[in-house]
Order: sequence, then structure tokens, then C-alpha cells
Amino acid sequence: MNLVKVKNHEEMSENACRIIMNKVSSLSSPVLGLATGSTPERLYELLIKEYERKSITFSHVTTFNLDEYVGLGETHSNSYRYFMDHHLFKKIDIPKSRTHVPNGTGGDLKRECHYYEELIENVGGIDLQILGLGLNGHIGFNEPGTPFSAKTHIVDLDFSTRKANARFFRSVKEVPTQAITMGIETILRSKQILLLVSGEQKSEALQRLLDGEVSEEFPASVLRNHPNVTIIADAAAVGMPG
Ligand code: F6R
Repeated sequence: MNLVKVKNHEEMSENACRIIMNKVSSLSSPVLGLATGSTPERLYELLIKEYERKSITFSHVTTFNLDEYVGLGETHSNSYRYFMDHHLFKKIDIPKSRTHVPNGTGGDLKRECHYYEELIENVGGIDLQILGLGLNGHIGFNEPGTPFSAKTHIVDLDFSTRKANARFFRSVKEVPTQAITMGIETILRSKQILLLVSGEQKSEALQRLLDGEVSEEFPASVLRNHPNVTIIADAAAVGMPG
């Protein structure tokens, strides 16, 4: 794992933006894995700026998001499809048909999981996967205890995760109890992984990732088994003065 320490959230986002721009401009049909949440928000703003400056096009890019809440459709403002549409996709030139977020509202969710895996395989896998880090070490919505062999699946969300995400809802009760997520195996099949970590509240999790053992009890630890992982962490997350 390659650890890049940066000053703050802004520098983390700028670094990530450069890495994505290089990937997008160097491949003829790049496939990006994307995350939602607070961590990549600024990164997406920077990508939009680069697009507006005409220094990048996304017309040839395919994307797969990590996860989606069960029960929230694309018009629900807390669905991850809505988040991606409004924070990135509608503001760049990516064809909507090439943006993928698991569908958490279909009748047969298990089938949706298989279908999602197939879609990823059919485009030759993910070239660059962006990840954020959960306080309990989750990546995607793979909560502690998820087998490393899991593919895209339906997950019961930890109360701690629902509480952490309650800031986007009126109350924790409104946060869905289930989600669809790419599995650990799905994530590990990505050719390159970029983990973004920002803020003091993530420092314990980051420390455990860097120094702890590889264990299903701490899902992010599996990244130590992947040959091409870059972590960009800001000073607060690393536990250093900014
Ligand atoms: C989001 C996702 C989650 C988040 C993680 C960190 O699609 O898969 O694993 O990356 O919960 O969330 P933030 O960035 O809000 O701290």
C-alpha cells in the first residue's frame, strides 16, 4: 500500500482529481468505481471544474458505484443514484447509460446483485476504484464480519453506520436498514484502488488499517492484500498537525 500524506481535505481531493484525470485520459474506455459520502464530494466538484475548463471529457467513461440503499429510488434525495446524478453525472458529459448504481428498488434484489456483477465483468472490470473509509472499517457497505469472498450482495447496515449517515436524513429512524453493496471480492478485482481518508474522526480506523491485522472483522484491512492501493490521507486523519 502506498500512503500519500497531504495537508487537508482540499489537497486530498486535488491529488485524487489528478489521478482520475490521468486514468481517464490515458485509457480508451476507462471504467471507474465510485463512492458517495462526504469524502469524495470535493473531488467531484474539482472534476466538474476540469470538465467545464474543457481539460477533460467523460464521454468514453463507464462508472459503477459501490452501493445503494434498499428502498430508495433515483428521485429520493438520499438515494446514492440521486447523489451521483446531482454531484457529478448531470454536470459532465458522461452518457447516463454508462453510469451504474445498484438498483435498490427492484423486486428481485438478489437478481440485481448478480446482474451488477455481470455488468462489471462484461466491461472487463474496474480500472480505478475510489473508496472512502467507514468509522468501523467498512468499505462500500461491507460491514465487519463480511466474508472477503463476498460478491455484490444485500447487507444489513450496522447501527453505527446508520447513525453516521443519519446526518443526511431527518433522523436515524429514516436511514434504511439495508443496502446493496459491491462485495469485498468485487472491490479487490479492481486493477487499482484509491482510498481517500479525511478528518480526525477517521484516524483510529486509518491507524488500524495501517498497523492492525488483516481480518474480516475490519473489512478495509483486506486492502493490504491488493497489489495496487494508494491511500491519500490528510493530516487530521493521520493524526498530525495540518
Ligand atoms: C459510500 C460508501 C461508504 C463511504 C464511507 C465513508 O458509497 O461506500 O463506504 O465511503 O461510509 O463515508 P464518508 O465519506 O461520508 O465519511
